Amino acid sequence: MGTLFRRFWLPAMLSSEVEPDSPPRRLRILGEDLVGFRDSEGRTGIIDAYCPHKLAQLFWGRNEECGLRCPYHGWKFDVSGNCVDLPNVEDAANAKRKMGITGYPTREAGGVVWVYMGPKDKMPDLPALEWAGLPVENIDMTRWLQCTNWLQGLEGEIDSSHVSFLHRVTEKDYELPSEFTSYGPPGPVDGAPSLTVRSTDYGFVCGSRRRTVNPDEFFWRITHWLVPFYSMIANHRYPRTGRAWVPVDDYNVMTFGYSFNAERAFTEHERAVLRKGAFFPPRIAPAAYKLDDGYIIDTWIGEANAGNDFLMSRDVQRKGNYTGILGVNEQDRCIQESQRSIAGVRPGGFVDRSREKLVASDVPVITARKTLLKMIADLENGIEPPQVTDPSVYRVHGTAILSRHGDFDGLLAESRAEVMGL
Ligand code: FES
Ligand SMILES: [Fe+2]
Repeated sequence: MGTLFRRFWLPAMLSSEVEPDSPPRRLRILGEDLVGFRDSEGRTGIIDAYCPHKLAQLFWGRNEECGLRCPYHGWKFDVSGNCVDLPNVEDAANAKRKMGITGYPTREAGGVVWVYMGPKDKMPDLPALEWAGLPVENIDMTRWLQCTNWLQGLEGEIDSSHVSFLHRVTEKDYELPSEFTSYGPPGPVDGAPSLTVRSTDYGFVCGSRRRTVNPDEFFWRITHWLVPFYSMIANHRYPRTGRAWVPVDDYNVMTFGYSFNAERAFTEHERAVLRKGAFFPPRIAPAAYKLDDGYIIDTWIGEANAGNDFLMSRDVQRKGNYTGILGVNEQDRCIQESQRSIAGVRPGGFVDRSREKLVASDVPVITARKTLLKMIADLENGIEPPQVTDPSVYRVHGTAILSRHGDFDGLLAESRAEVMGL
């Protein structure tokens, strides 16, 4: 899976985290310890976390004059990982050439610094995700740590059938304005939607159909999974949202949460509503977080987390909130971080899927697993992921509509452009 991931551009950090010559950020992506920074000219760099001299962490270094200087003996590296100064070596000009470190290509779009960690000759264009092409004023972008394998996060994302249970009643608890309470149709909500999944050239589209008060009309929510780890979530109203699940290592995932409006900038009020943490992002705080093996990453962590039982209230749970936990992501994170048999036994990361009993409503999860396994097998046989050669396949978005069509294929045939957001 790691080899496959290295064919794609990966969200690495927020653009707003790094200013010219500001403190570097400690990252771990695909199990590699890295440091991200912005040099004096505004270029971003994501390079090896460790100085090649005595393996000190460059995080402690000086970000100055177009490079990151190790504070131990002064060796200095540019955004590409080239060694540009060796002040304690006599024949520095010659030695510098041999002292370069890993420096991955980066790009900026959609308020995110992206990194490409794959073979140089295979580097694609950025995926044409709708939000990645918008000005940052139109996007609300955050990232936070979840302590599970990335696939558990993604599977929760595309598992529509849990929404009617795990996330019941949250909106009321927060007294949110109606434009942010958009899961269902007007009128009584149908708790057992019928799901149809159709594979597409970017992953799959999932239509979830609910009955409405009008027997001749159905309420459809259309969501997408885009390989390898993006979601585009349907909202009846504004804003559109989704997440990217970027592996930190086998046991941790960086969730990038995006809300966006293609037409206009967010208002302060709208950002304030998002900050309440009822949906995504959760209530988060910046943190230097120590991973199990001792390496520290610069990230954000949920204020409600496993260390405080996700601030669960049994009283609130008794009164009707399904979990007694406030916040959609808090509810997801609580459950996903508790799935230890699936998260894998440490060390080794063994993932015991054989103990699961999947049912019909797990079709989206099953489809995603099969698709990913096929992509791995294809790559082993020399077939590159087609999404990489044609990044325009990512140009779809989630939506929610009322329609007389009861079957998804009929709906797609009649109003494909509207449904897919093309
Ligand atoms: S350890 Fe970095 S310069 Fe010596
Ligand atoms: Fe959820």
